[in-house]
Amino acid sequence: MPNPETPPILRPLPDTILGPRVMLRPRRAGDGPATWEAIEESREQLRLWLPWADATRTPEDAEASARRAQGRWLLREDLQVSVWENAMGRLLGGSGLHRINWEIPRFEIGYWLRTSAQGQGFMTEAVALLCRLAFETLGANRVEIRCDARNLKSAALPGRLGFVHEATLRNESRDHFGELRDSLIFALTPQDYSENKKSLAWDGILC
Ligand SMILES: CC(C)(COP(=O)(O)OP(=O)(O)OC[C@H]1O[C@@H](n2cnc3c(N)ncnc32)[C@H](O)[C@@H]1OP(=O)(O)O)[C@@H](O)C(=O)NCCC(=O)NCCS
Repeated sequence: MPNPETPPILRPLPDTILGPRVMLRPRRAGDGPATWEAIEESREQLRLWLPWADATRTPEDAEASARRAQGRWLLREDLQVSVWENAMGRLLGGSGLHRINWEIPRFEIGYWLRTSAQGQGFMTEAVALLCRLAFETLGANRVEIRCDARNLKSAALPGRLGFVHEATLRNESRDHFGELRDSLIFALTPQDYSENKKSLAWDGILC
């Protein structure tokens, strides 16, 4: 467990996190082209849920975003990772520990997958690896996933990893098209995490 006295900026973090089928790596300079290719393939789907999809208009936008993420990783402000497929070496998508409150510590996990990589469990594995990082390396007391109630694929993921559905916030905000949305909140505590880890799903994923 990390020493809570250590300032976040000095906390050690891994350079790569390896699972059976995916590898997570902090987003960094040079990730732009692979990210751009994955976004271009998936644009119609991503833009429904993620405002940054339409804002990423050129390969340079993707590279600039990767460089900003690298800076924020170093500062421990936002821990964005790219998700790579071990077998093919291609970039599958992105995830990370966001909206960090180091005093708790508390993290929120977000995710996206390129269209051709969906339906195979890659993101479930990536999120499980991030939960391990959060609880076992960073001493998390809470890991949260929030999503639009209409986003059924996104809402199904936390349940596969034993997250507890804590709340549905009705008309909680407006989406990036201006439509009112209900938000679902799922969370894991350290107790939930250690119980879930024993379950079959986690055994397969967290080898
Ligand atoms: C949200 C998103 C990442 C979910 O993708 P996904 O492919 O459903 O997620 P996973 O990679 O975990 O795969 C799970 C699916 O693979 C199947 N699967 C196959 N092998 C599996 C395995 N070994 N382990 C787990 N699931 C497996 C599951 O049954 C599930 O399929 P189903 O949806 O038909 O039930 C994707 O829909 C996406 O990128 N959407 C656009 C961006 C977005 O909405 N982001 C979230 C904003 S809150």
